[in-house]
Amino acid sequence: MSASVAGLLREIADVGRDATRGGWSRFVFDDAEMVLREWFVEQAQRRSLEVETDRNGAIWAWRHGSGGPGTGGRAIVTGSHLDSVPGGGEYDGPLGVASALAALDLLEARGVRSEKPLAVVAFPEEEGARFGVACLGSRLMAGAIDPDRARGLRDADGRTFAEVAAAAGLDVERIGPDPERLAGLEAFVELHVEQGRGLVDLGQPVAIGSSILGHGRWRFSVTGEGNHAGTTRMLDRRDPMVVAAGIVLATREVAAGHPDARATVGRVVPVPGGTNVIASRVDLWLDARHPDDAVTAAVVAAIHERARAVAAAEGCTVELVEESYGGTVHFDAGLSGRLGRVLPEAPVLDTGAGHDAGVLAGSLPTAMLFTRNPTGVSHSPEEACEDTDAEAGAAALADVLEDLLRP
Ligand code: GLV
Ligand code: MN
Ligand code: MN
Ligand code: MN
Repeated sequence: MSASVAGLLREIADVGRDATRGGWSRFVFDDAEMVLREWFVEQAQRRSLEVETDRNGAIWAWRHGSGGPGTGGRAIVTGSHLDSVPGGGEYDGPLGVASALAALDLLEARGVRSEKPLAVVAFPEEEGARFGVACLGSRLMAGAIDPDRARGLRDADGRTFAEVAAAAGLDVERIGPDPERLAGLEAFVELHVEQGRGLVDLGQPVAIGSSILGHGRWRFSVTGEGNHAGTTRMLDRRDPMVVAAGIVLATREVAAGHPDARATVGRVVPVPGGTNVIASRVDLWLDARHPDDAVTAAVVAAIHERARAVAAAEGCTVELVEESYGGTVHFDAGLSGRLGRVLPEAPVLDTGAGHDAGVLAGSLPTAMLFTRNPTGVSHSPEEACEDTDAEAGAAALADVLEDLLRP
């Protein structure tokens, strides 16, 4: 069989469409993501790949080496994720999985056999949209998050990762580092839709990734006094929403002082959240990124300082908790160099977005390919990819895999 990337994506185009937010909402282990997981398993089985779900909920589809299961040494792996941000685009994640399947079909059509095993992987909770920690599956596998902490992470409904993962069929006592699996992998190459305008500006369909910006997430919790919107005089209020507004403005102003910094407050949750209620507490999440760990730390500290001042003026208190952090990642030079020799026309681009390939870079050689996104927009329904570029991406991935599968 030989599937096109566009054809594969069309099969899942209606899964997790979000009529309220627009775009797609596919959260790890929710109904939509479970449908995508089943779809991936079915696609793998159609290709006679052997499917397994690892202890952390990643699905692996194996093309064994020509000597049979367990032979051929360490595996070459490609793939991405199936979950999305709330109201996200169609391609962030699924493009990498569909391109991997299409690339395997191209290898079959070319008659490429290999002693080395090849796998396609779909990681869970890459976006951290449900449990707050991005790349949760790859972090667990790499030992980059404590399994007890992961088990206790809660979604917006208060359900823990342990409960939700158990309901999805995982043995949650076993989640955590998987050194044996990692030791069996030679290289991971993740293809992803580009999340900026690099390729559009260069007029090229496919790029090789060079690095990922260091990034982290922090939660501010502002506590004030819940009260009545009609009976509480303005000067008598201790309104945490006013402090939240100050934190949002501080985020913009502090980050603007550092040319390479990115800082965003994308989620604000007032408690209890009523139009005629002065909130008693507001939680807000800061996403901050910069190539230099020290600058990110300074940006967060400066925002925190400003937050404390606004909170004091309003008679509120503010607490700051770091939820996750990962420093700047430079992909493996040897592996990326090999991609460059296979794809001499492809430009080399860095990215400000996080990826499982970034987390796994600490454990094995990883690399990335980006496919052109004509809008340059991502984490939005506006994210796009032309069919011809998607096929060019899969063909580039097939070329790379063919090269890496050589002894
Ligand atoms: C994930 O895509 C991120 O970069 O936040
Ligand atoms: Mn994303
Ligand atoms: Mn992604
Ligand atoms: Mn990502």
